[in-house]
This record gives sequence, structure tokens and C-alpha cells, in this order.
Amino acid sequence: MKQTELERARVDQKTTKQTLSEQAMKPLRFGHLVIWPPFVAAPFAGYTDGVYREILREFGCPYCYTEMVSAKGLVMGGEATLALLEHSEHDRPLAVQLFGSEPEDISEAIRAIHQADVPFDAVDINMGCPAKKVTSQGAGGALLKDISRAEAMIQAAKSATRLPVSVKIRIGWSGGERAVEIASRLEAAGADMIAVHGRTVAQGYSGEADWGTIARVARSLNIPVVGNGDVTAPRQGLKLLGESGCSGIMVGRGILGNPFFFRSLYQTLRGSEPEPAAAGERFILAIDHLHRAAQRYGERRAMLELRKHLAFYFKGMKGASKLRTAMNGARSWSELVDTIRHASRCFGNELHM
Ligand SMILES: Cc1cc2nc3c(=O)[nH]c(=O)nc-3n(C[C@H](O)[C@H](O)[C@H](O)COP(=O)(O)O)c2cc1C
Repeated sequence: MKQTELERARVDQKTTKQTLSEQAMKPLRFGHLVIWPPFVAAPFAGYTDGVYREILREFGCPYCYTEMVSAKGLVMGGEATLALLEHSEHDRPLAVQLFGSEPEDISEAIRAIHQADVPFDAVDINMGCPAKKVTSQGAGGALLKDISRAEAMIQAAKSATRLPVSVKIRIGWSGGERAVEIASRLEAAGADMIAVHGRTVAQGYSGEADWGTIARVARSLNIPVVGNGDVTAPRQGLKLLGESGCSGIMVGRGILGNPFFFRSLYQTLRGSEPEPAAAGERFILAIDHLHRAAQRYGERRAMLELRKHLAFYFKGMKGASKLRTAMNGARSWSELVDTIRHASRCFGNELHM
């Protein structure tokens, strides 16, 4: 596939948006936001930076979050933390996701964002991260064990902004029995939307997401609930949207190396069979992503940081593990680009980028 064809495939979703906008599937609404189709990209620390989000947007992703950003880090004005807020004007509507354990850090961080005039459309608080370095500070998933503090975090956020405040939780710390109670208390504390990842914190990312519990939460709350966990294909996401009573679907690992998810979603909504991304398209996108990252971060950093992304672009393809080893072994930017070009040629695609 040539570059121009890729561009055409990307913009195709715009037409779909117009033709389908009158149709029955309701948008996800909270605060002033109207998100249609009601599918959102999950936040991924180390993956969904401004560069990848821009790519997701070009494939039609209607709503994104920043990677999780330390509220304390923002208050201290750390440069690396501030860099996580950067985004292009096309990368909207966008939520800034904060993590922390002190309500005052949350309100101060939000004030700092407003003072710096960085435009966002919502503030989200992370109450699901299972990483030890986060939970050991009482942040992320640990807040599910201290609901009074979790409530105070939401109240602190609400007091510092007029933007809608959402929260991303798991179904519980080690079991899902209290999921409805937890979510109801966060709703009462002022949350405008709740995204529920259907695993416990203890589960990490293993096992299956419990959509039964997500549905119980969705049916018990008056604010919109967005379900998250194991959605890998548009049709499956649409089915879960219909069955669970959720107002939206958050797609997690299903979007890594696969911004095509959103194009397939529009094709599915239009009633056509989604076309899988061709090998050539994956190669073009990988090189394109590398170039954009190099522009933003410089070649050296882009090369190191994109290794994990690149592996996802080629996952499942013939020779993928050999290619991954070769990409990881590349000692310079040009060697990395040449490795991808060479692999592309093996699939019969000449890359002119
Ligand atoms: C490497 C990695 C980084 C993640 N970073 C974040 C994050 O910054 N904020 C957040 O709320 N969730 C984060 N998550 C969780 C995902 O957003 C999502 O909830 C999870 O992958 C479950 O969805 P899935 O089963 O569709 O993948 C991360 C997950 C992984 C594997």
C-alpha cells in the first residue's frame, strides 16, 4: 500500500462519522463533552504519549487520556512531568490523568495546569494502577482500600476546576464484591464519569475482565460508566456496550500497535466487514511513527522508546520475532530504519520514507 492510500484509509472515517451521526448509538456524554462513537483509548504510561495519540486521532479515535501524570511531580514543576502534558491542537478532546495520594496535591496540580494555560477537556484521577511504586505511596489502586481518601481526591479535583472530573477504577483491590459500593461513593463525591477496568488490583493484567461486575456498576449509577477490559475488536466492543448498560467502551491493549482499531470500528458501524491492516500499511505506519517520535524527542530517545511500540506493530506477522530481535539489536537510528525497510521489502513493499 502506498502512502497516499494510507492517508485515504485514515480519512475515510470522517465520511462515516457524517453518515452515521444521526443513527441510534448514543454518544458518551459527561460535563460539556459529547463523544461519538462512545469508544475511548485507554491511557498507557510509556505508550499513549502525544505522538501516539496523534496517530490514534488520525484513525478516528474520539477521546484520549494523557499517560498518568504524578500530581506531586506537577506541583514540583518537574520538567519530565510537565512534558507529559504536551499535546497538539488536534489531540482533543483530551483528559489529563493524574495520580497521587494527597487531595491537596490533586487540587494544586490542577491549578498549576490551569495557570500554565495547558488546555484539557477533563481531569481524570487514576485509582487503578497496580504498580508497587504507585500503590506503596497510597496512590493508584491503593485508593480502593481507602474510599474516604478517594472521595476526598474527587472533591479536591472538583474544587479546583470547572472541567468534568472522571475517575478510572478497578472492580476492587482483591475482589469485586464492593465494586458497586465503591463506584456509588465516588459518584456521590462528585465524579462526572467512571471508567471501570474489570479486574482487581491484585490481578494486575492477568486473567479475564469481569464484565458482569462492570455491568452491575453501570446499572447502579446515574453517571456514565465506561467499561474496560479485554476489548480487542470493534464488534465485540459494540456487543459489550449493548449488553453491559455501559455508556462507553475503553479499549486497552487492543490499541497497542493497532490504531487501525478505530478505522475498523467505523467500517463496522457502516455495516461493512472491517479490513485488517495489510503488512505494508504496518511498515509504513511504523516508520511514520518513528519519524514523528524523532521530531519530538530526538533520534536516540525515539529509537529506544519506540522498540516496544514497534514490536506491537508487527505482532503476529510472519517473522515478527526475528524482526523484533533485529530491531532491538540496531545500534543506530539509520540501522533501525534500514532493518524495517529491509523487512518490508521481504513482504514485497518498497518504502520511500
Ligand atoms: C504498560 C501499561 C501501562 C498502563 N498505563 C496506564 C495509565 O497510565 N493509566 C491508567 O489508568 N491505566 C493504565 N494502564 C491500564 C490500561 O489503561 C487498561 O486499563 C488495561 O490495559 C486493561 O484494559 P485491556 O484489558 O483492554 O488491556 C496501563 C496498562 C499497561 C499494560
